Amino acid sequence: MDTMTWTKIIGAGCGSLLILLLIQWTAEEIYHHSHYKYKEVAYLLEIEEEVTEVEKKEEETPFVELVASADLSKGKKVFGKCKACHKLGDGENGTGPHLHKIIGREMAVISDFKYSSSFKGLEGKWTIDELNLFLTKPSNYIKGTAMNFAGLGKATDRANLIAYLEDSTK
Ligand code: HEC
Repeated sequence: MDTMTWTKIIGAGCGSLLILLLIQWTAEEIYHHSHYKYKEVAYLLEIEEEVTEVEKKEEETPFVELVASADLSKGKKVFGKCKACHKLGDGENGTGPHLHKIIGREMAVISDFKYSSSFKGLEGKWTIDELNLFLTKPSNYIKGTAMNFAGLGKATDRANLIAYLEDSTK
């Protein structure tokens, strides 16, 4: 074979190699940039949207509705956190005043219980909404309360508990 033929063969070899590389590079570019990445971004956006929607729903659900659809047996479990200090029977005071018929009851009205001075000043009734606020964080609701309880952070816990209190002391 003469030099010309060799040159042609090598040239052809190099040419096709270059084309192969070019195809591979283009394919990767397309796959990464348009297909894969966009799909990932779209997926993330979708998840974000779903999460905000769930959050919105929780925010938008009025508390009374959470109480209306409450789970009483779960509420009974939550009451386990109150049991050390409160009983549901009429007149059965402990560390805290009894909680008989607490929903709709006047605040700080149990005459044989010694309320703290800050609590004594409370006026109004324990409506579902007031209990919801109070139980979220008692020390925020009334400064200096003797109720030594951190609070219930979850709205569903409070709703289930309040429904249980209402149901079991009718
Ligand atoms: C460590 C004891 C303790 C725990 C636990 C506790 N409480 Fe109390 N609670 C008290 C005391 C003490 C008071 C009276 C507060 C005061 O005088 O400042 C009180 C007051 C109350 C009142 C107001 C009653 C009234 O007569 O106005 C309600 C309602 C109440 N607690 C509900 C609950 C619920 C529901 C839980 C459980 C999620 C709970 N408490 C957990 C000690 C406790």
